[in-house]
Amino acid sequence: MSTQAPVHVATRISGFTYAIRNVVAEARKVEAAGRTVRYLNIGDPIPFGFQTSPHLIEAVDRAMRDGHNGYTASVGILSAREAVAREYESRGMPVGVDRVILTAGTSEGIELALGAMADAGDEVLVPTPTYPLYTAVLAKLGAKAVFYRTDPEDHWLPDVADIAAKITPLTRAIVVIDPNNPTGAVYPEATRLALIALAHSSGVPILADEVYGDLGFDGPSPLLGSLDPDAPILSFSSLSKAYVAPGWRVGWLSVGRSPRLNDVLAAIKKLADGRLCSTGPMQYAIEAALNGDRSHQREFARQLAIRADLTVSRLNAISGITCVAPRAAFYAMPKVALPSGKTDEDFVLALLRQTGILCVYGSGFGLPAADGFFRVVFLAPPDLLSAIYDDIATFTAEWTRS
Ligand SMILES: Cc1ncc(COP(=O)(O)O)c(C=O)c1O
Repeated sequence: MSTQAPVHVATRISGFTYAIRNVVAEARKVEAAGRTVRYLNIGDPIPFGFQTSPHLIEAVDRAMRDGHNGYTASVGILSAREAVAREYESRGMPVGVDRVILTAGTSEGIELALGAMADAGDEVLVPTPTYPLYTAVLAKLGAKAVFYRTDPEDHWLPDVADIAAKITPLTRAIVVIDPNNPTGAVYPEATRLALIALAHSSGVPILADEVYGDLGFDGPSPLLGSLDPDAPILSFSSLSKAYVAPGWRVGWLSVGRSPRLNDVLAAIKKLADGRLCSTGPMQYAIEAALNGDRSHQREFARQLAIRADLTVSRLNAISGITCVAPRAAFYAMPKVALPSGKTDEDFVLALLRQTGILCVYGSGFGLPAADGFFRVVFLAPPDLLSAIYDDIATFTAEWTRS
């Protein structure tokens, strides 16, 4: 007789959610019922017609044909790490090649860093709303996400006093996502300097997620570490967004030059050994990206700014919806005045079932479900977005009356 009992699932998994992808299961049901779904849930430029630059594709193609199909060193190939180190130096955060590690996107960089820094029960300060990677990785580690406020009344800027108040002896890092997903906020220098001052005074390092740094509508953002190269900062980025190659899963992390970070750097390298290496041929695109033509980025940012303006003006024109203007990337975080007793998820699921438009509810990013926030990815062409906003207007008028 063999047992029929389900095999045990780790209890940590109950804390692991990824709303951006979890909502897709609902969308599939709507599709199965015969309705076309318009996916505004994932920040991937490729399905919306934006393309990876040919010189990056050539670099990967050449690497494969030249036989670079084996494992690389776990920190990545030297030429690409040198290109990243040169990039950081030229942007005012000199780190040295020894402090650069190539990763399977920003995601793996964050996972390696948090794995190196946080034990079970430790705390990491995470913004609300947050990109869900942080809460997901912390759930896997058994560590605790402690949420700090960012303020929609103040351009979604972080409340630095709130961060300071929430630091305890267990706090291992402060996560700063700038430019931000899901709000599109770009932090001014004064806010950035206040965050750095807090890192110095508290001793708690900053994990700077800078994956949208080159997609500001007013130009690229300076690296956080360029404001103070001796501050305890680890910086993360990738080819996913600003180089339009998210499926390649290739990126990097740079550990600031502060000697306080040396042990963390060694721990990250130890963990990196355990996953062998990031995708080999794709590492060859990094040098091509950072040393080559970047003119596509300005055009991409211009296209995004047009879509952001359309999004903000059309959503703010809907009675019951308000939307703070994003300043970078391809996300907006509007708020709908919910009928009493309803949640942001009720709104998003009803919108999906009735119109086929798929957004993500704000509570999937750590916001209170009763606040009525939802995230829109505005990568679609303007005429399509315009039709979507017409439908959101009609739906919202009916739904909020019901
Ligand atoms: C803020 C933020 N960080 C990290 C990531 C993951 O990026 P990557 O593809 O580089 O792993 C994303 C993807 O949407 C993101 O929005």
